[in-house]
Amino acid sequence: MINTGITALESYVPEQIVTNEDLSHIVDTNDEWISSRTGIKRRHLSTGENTSQFCINTGKKLLDKTGTNAEDIDLIIVATITPDYATPSVSCQVQKALGCTNAFAFDISAACSGFVYSLSIADKYIRSGLYQKVLVFGAETLSKIVNWTDRNTCVLFGDGGGGALLEPVEKGGIVAEDLHARGDDEALTGRHHVVENMVCTHIEKGYPYLIMDGRAIFNFATKVVPKSVNKILEKTGFTLDDIKYIVPHQANSRIIDIVARKLKTDIDKFYINVEEYGNTSAASIPIALSEMSEKGLLKKGDRIIITGFGAGLTWGSMLIEW
Ligand code: ACO
Repeated sequence: MINTGITALESYVPEQIVTNEDLSHIVDTNDEWISSRTGIKRRHLSTGENTSQFCINTGKKLLDKTGTNAEDIDLIIVATITPDYATPSVSCQVQKALGCTNAFAFDISAACSGFVYSLSIADKYIRSGLYQKVLVFGAETLSKIVNWTDRNTCVLFGDGGGGALLEPVEKGGIVAEDLHARGDDEALTGRHHVVENMVCTHIEKGYPYLIMDGRAIFNFATKVVPKSVNKILEKTGFTLDDIKYIVPHQANSRIIDIVARKLKTDIDKFYINVEEYGNTSAASIPIALSEMSEKGLLKKGDRIIITGFGAGLTWGSMLIEW
C-alpha cells in the first residue's frame, strides 16, 4: 500500500515586521488589547512581494534541500485566498518560476483550512500511484485585503507562506483526515466581487476588504476544532497520549487555550507561534510545521494532528506520522 509522506518543509515570510505598537499609530488600539485578546505581538507584512513570491521562495528551498529536480515534480497545489491574479493561478506562476515543466498546477480556496484541504488532495493523487512528487503550499498576502482603518480586523492578520514536498512512503505519513464545510455562515467574508456589465441591472456595492464577526468565528472555532480532533482519534483508535503535537491554525491563542481545555490536554501539546506572525490564514500551519522541523521537533515515529478552521466556513484535521 502507498502512503503519502511529508518529506520536507520550508517557509518564507517577508522581512518587514510590524509590531502592535506600530499599529497603535494608525488605528485606535494598543499592545495590551491585542496581546491579551489574541496573543499576537508582531506580524510580517509585505513591502511589495506578492503571494506567488512567498511560494516560489519556499519552493526553491524545498527543491534545494531535497536535491529534487524541478522537472520531476508532478503536481503543484497552492492554497490561498489572496492570489496575485484571478488568472494565472499562483501555482502556475510557481511552476514557471521553478521550472517544473512536467507538473500540472492549480490553486484551491478554503481560507485557513486551505493547507489541510490541499494535503488531502495531494494525498489522493499520490495514493493512486499515478503521481510521485507533489509540492503543496499555503501562502497569503492578507495585507492586500485588510482594511487598515478597521481596528476590528487589521490587528489580526499577517503575510507569508510555507510549503511541503510530498512523496510516497511505505509507513506512516498521512494517516487520517476529517474535513468539513458549512457554506451557510457568512461570519467571515473577504473582497466581494460584484457583477458589473452592460446588461446588469442589479447594482450592488462591492467591498474589497475582509469583514468578520469576531465573536461568531471565535465560538465556531472553539466548537468545531475539539470535535474534529476527537473524530480523528476515534477514526484511528489513538488517544491524545499517542499524539506528540497538535498544530492548529494560528488565529488566536485564546481559541487554542479553550480547545486545549475542551480536549482536556496540556497547552504544551500545542505548537503556537501566533505571537510572531499573526493570522496568516492558509500559510499558518505550513509556517508552523516548517519552524518545528527547523527546531528538530518532528522526529521519526512522532504523530501530530494539524487542524485548520476559517472562512467558508471550512474546517478540518489530519493525523500525520513522521
Ligand atoms: N483595539 C482596541 N479595541 C478594539 C480593537 C482593537 N484592535 N478591536 C475591537 N476593539 C474594541 C471593540 O470595538 C469593542 O469595543 P466596545 O465594547 O466599545 O464596542 C471591544 O474592543 C470588545 O470587542 P469584542 O469584539 O467584544 O472583543 P473580543 O473579546 O470578542 O475579541 C477578537 C475580538 C479578538 C476579534 C475575538 O473575537 C477573536 O479572536 N475572534 C476570532 C477571530 C479569528 O480568529 N478570526 C479568524 C479566524 S478565520 C481566519 O483565519 C481567516
